[in-house]
Amino acid sequence: MMSTVSRIDGKMAGVLRELLGENLVMNEPLSRHTSMATGGPADAFCRVVSGDILRTLIVLLAGAGLPKLVLGRGTNILPSDAGFRGMVIVLEGDFSRIVFDGNIAEAGAAVTLASFAEEAARNGLGGLEFTSGIPGSLGGSLIGNAGTSGEALGDLVERVDLMQEDGSIRGATREESGFSYRTSALSGLGAVVLGARFRLPSRSRVEIVERVRPYAVKRRQQPLDWRSAGCIFKNPAGHSAGQLIDQAGLKGERAGAMEISDRHANFMVNRGGGTTSQAMELAGKVRRVVHEKFGVLLESEVRIIDEEGRRVVAGDEA
Ligand code: EPU
Repeated sequence: MMSTVSRIDGKMAGVLRELLGENLVMNEPLSRHTSMATGGPADAFCRVVSGDILRTLIVLLAGAGLPKLVLGRGTNILPSDAGFRGMVIVLEGDFSRIVFDGNIAEAGAAVTLASFAEEAARNGLGGLEFTSGIPGSLGGSLIGNAGTSGEALGDLVERVDLMQEDGSIRGATREESGFSYRTSALSGLGAVVLGARFRLPSRSRVEIVERVRPYAVKRRQQPLDWRSAGCIFKNPAGHSAGQLIDQAGLKGERAGAMEISDRHANFMVNRGGGTTSQAMELAGKVRRVVHEKFGVLLESEVRIIDEEGRRVVAGDEA
């Protein structure tokens, strides 16, 4: 275990405790909050249930110069084994609301994609069929523009609600949100994603079920029995990352407890006790071998982050 020095002193911890009560935990291992089950301790970790508490917290952290990291369901993120030197925030409570008005749905960042699609279907709204089987929260799914190779969440967005560093709230248009293949400009705006407003097409339950079927079939070809973070690499233009890794003979390749799934080669699975450094080592190896064999450079899809919350690149990615 790496030794770390917390950036949060006793006085600050007291102020945070007063604001957050039992919803604050110090030195919380992030491996408990990520689907890949990796990541060292965060100096502080909290659950925030309302916009008012979030505003106070954000202003406090900004004033103290403490970094923050908002975690959704942790399904696409590999935090550093050294943890995070600041406050990790998980939204819940008020951020789990969905409100429908005709073809408009307003949903909070803590809503899961699965419950959003289900609630929308109950209200006679479709368009979210492609999200079937994607395990993330809406906040994380907006930032990473979750989807398949052809369809993504950003296509349905009218506005993303953001809380800025000074605690003020504003809406970002779809254009400003900068959605593109499995990424967006949202994390670069330095604000917390509170939720979004979507326009969804009217559809009958029967039609929705029909449309979900092919996605559900594909998902069943993916590994579900081990800890993973979904697809490791983006599909390079004109190629499939899974196919390239498979053809390079890398299924079953390991670094420590991390393994390239023999079910779907673009999935890395943690067979128990694996670390983010092992994941980076294995991802680096995959990139090298695929580059040598096919001349294609794979780009990470998962977000590997360092102790300061900055995105780092896997292995020799540059
Ligand atoms: N393939 C192989 N060997 C493998 C895996 C795949 O030959 O080990 C081949 C398949 O036979 C197929 C092609 O590669 O011809 C593409 O594979 P697949 O249909 O499974 O889709 P994908 O392109 O690998 C994309 C998304 C997935 C999403 C599926 C669902 C990316 C990087 N991946 O996968 O997203 O679940 O479509 O349709 O865009 C994720 O974002 O975490 C993720 C898993």
